[in-house]
Amino acid sequence: MYLTEEQLLLYKNQGFFILPECFPRGEIETMKAELSAISAEESPKRVLEKDGKTVRSLHGTHKTNDVFNRLTRHPSILEPAMQIVGSQVYVYQFKINLKAPFSGDIWQWHQDYIYWRKEDGLQRPQIVNAMFILEDMNEFNGPLFVIPGSHKEEMIDVAAHNSQKSGESPAWISSFTSNLKYSITQEVVTDLVSKYGIYSVKAVAGSVVFFNSNLVHASANNISPFGRSTAIITYNSVKNIPSPVAQPRPDFLVSQDYQPVLPLASEILSELYSTKSI
Ligand code: SIN
Ligand code: MN
Repeated sequence: MYLTEEQLLLYKNQGFFILPECFPRGEIETMKAELSAISAEESPKRVLEKDGKTVRSLHGTHKTNDVFNRLTRHPSILEPAMQIVGSQVYVYQFKINLKAPFSGDIWQWHQDYIYWRKEDGLQRPQIVNAMFILEDMNEFNGPLFVIPGSHKEEMIDVAAHNSQKSGESPAWISSFTSNLKYSITQEVVTDLVSKYGIYSVKAVAGSVVFFNSNLVHASANNISPFGRSTAIITYNSVKNIPSPVAQPRPDFLVSQDYQPVLPLASEILSELYSTKSI
C-alpha cells in the first residue's frame, strides 16, 4: 500500500500522517493476544513504570515473536515507510508501549532523533517511526501529543539530564522511562506551541501514525480504564547505517542487523488466525 503524493506532502509539512484503520480486527486481536505472555517474561527488554510492577514497554519484540515480526514486513506499514525514507529500510528499533489503564505514565516532551544521533551515532534523520495502534487512542487514555511542523526546527540540542541513579539500572534506561534523558524544556515547548500549535492524535485500533524523528511529541498519563497499547516500529534507511560509538546500546534496542526488510503479501497476518480457526 503506497501513499498518494498528497499524503506524502501532508507528512512532509506537518511531520506526521495518520493512516486510519488499515488493519482488520482479526489481525489486531492476533497481535494483542501475544501481549500478556511477552509482558510476563522477566527480561532486560521489559521496562516497568515507576511503581515497579506495571509494564511500560517491551523492546525488540520483533526479533523473537513471529506475529510482531510479520507486522514489520506488512506492506501497509512497510511500503509507506520506504516511500517516506526514500530507500529500502531495516528495523532500527521496535518497542511496544503499553500505557496501562490507571497506571500508564507520561512521556515527556522530546524529539527522537537526538537519542539516535547522540547515543547511536546516526548521521542523518533519514528514518521514520510507524506507530501501530493496538488499542483505540482517545482523549481519555493519554494520546500522543504532537507539535505539527516542529520537525522543521531540526534537532534541538538539549543537554542530557542526569536522571540516572548510579548503579541501579542500565545506562540506556533513561531513554525509556517517564524521566527522559533529552527532554525539551517548558520554555522551548511554550515557544514551539505558540509558533506551530499543538495536536492530540486520536486513532482507532488498526491505524498507523507515521511521524518524523524530529517531531516534538509527548503524552500524558493514563488515568482512564482504557489501555492504550501501541507498537512503534522505527525504520531506518539502509543508506544511513550508524557510525560506530564507544558504548553501543544493546541490539534489542538498536538493531545491528542492517538487512533490508522486504514487504510480504498483505495476508501475512490474517493467515495466522485463518489457519488457527480451521
Ligand atoms: C515515544 O515517544 O516513543 C512514545 C510516546 C508515547 O507512547 O506516547
Ligand atoms: Mn519518542
